[in-house]
Amino acid sequence: MKTIDLRSDTVTLPSPQMREAIYHAELGDDVLGEDPTVNRLEQMAAERVGKEAALLVVSGTMGNLVSILTHCGRGDEIILGDLAHTFLYEAGGTAALGGIHPRTVPNQPDGTLRLQDIEAAIRTDNVHFPRTRLICLENTHNRCSGAALTPAYTAQVADLARRRGLALHLDGARIFHAAVALQVDVRELTRDVDSLSFCLSKGLAAPVGSGVCGSRDFIAEARRARKIVGGGMRQAGIIAAAGIVALDTMIDRIQEDHDNARRFAQGVAGINGLSIDPSRVQTNIVYFDVAREMPYAEELAKKLASRGLRVLSVGPSRLRAVMHYGISAQDIDQALSILADVCRIV
Ligand SMILES: Cc1ncc(COP(=O)(O)O)c(C=O)c1O
Repeated sequence: MKTIDLRSDTVTLPSPQMREAIYHAELGDDVLGEDPTVNRLEQMAAERVGKEAALLVVSGTMGNLVSILTHCGRGDEIILGDLAHTFLYEAGGTAALGGIHPRTVPNQPDGTLRLQDIEAAIRTDNVHFPRTRLICLENTHNRCSGAALTPAYTAQVADLARRRGLALHLDGARIFHAAVALQVDVRELTRDVDSLSFCLSKGLAAPVGSGVCGSRDFIAEARRARKIVGGGMRQAGIIAAAGIVALDTMIDRIQEDHDNARRFAQGVAGINGLSIDPSRVQTNIVYFDVAREMPYAEELAKKLASRGLRVLSVGPSRLRAVMHYGISAQDIDQALSILADVCRIV
């Protein structure tokens, strides 16, 4: 039985071209700056997102941590959404390792933070308060249905940040997904931020790796922060080789994932016992709910798994499905048929 795994876009396996590139990668010691494949990936990543420089890190979590450690010192405060991945799912790393205080403001359903909420959260100069240093956005927004933030919104937040002497960091784990959904050059989404992290291993199907991008000076400092958290890697060209193929070959196919997400959402809308608003599905992430008379989401997820469909239970009545490389339109039809069957039986 084939398993259709929609738990996350991190479950992808490297493409044959990636495996080939890994095998043939030219290598060196990257901590000494001598891995030609890493250097090529970093240059390519910086160019792609329109920044001066880039740094390869192990994961999105490390990308955000290193970026925030570079912007902030101990006792500083960052403003971020209450549903931000960095706030919810990165083990409190900025507080644990950097002594950096998180100040959350409510994420709106479209992933944005209201400008007045950000403005109100900025501290005045007072000995009682931490110092606000940084605003963090997330694009696409994982917990907000994979919503894509627009260039105009990003520019407004950047403008506010500049006016108030703050920096702006973007958790762009899926920034290419946002660019594809909005049909804009990714640089329109990154132009106004001081730093961003993006993931090679989510949706772009590379086995490992994320990029941190920013000015040359910022990346020089981020390189030091990466070393501090133990993220300096030696022959990391093994990872970078797949990352280069990811940037070269995987962005152009993202639309297929967005189309599959919409197809899936529309199908879910027609299944008794499930509820969803398909109009909220903009990118490759689909959240849907199970009705009260149904088993808990976790139980339903187990039943689905036994039939060959894996989705993630993310709350008592909420499930998530994420589309990615390796999932076809036929897989979506098969997934919907399993869902309809299981919901009919329970
Ligand atoms: C929006 C967002 N940021 C950051 C991360 C962290 O990435 P990683 O799992 O590579 O640490 C994720 C992971 O899913 C994510 O969805």
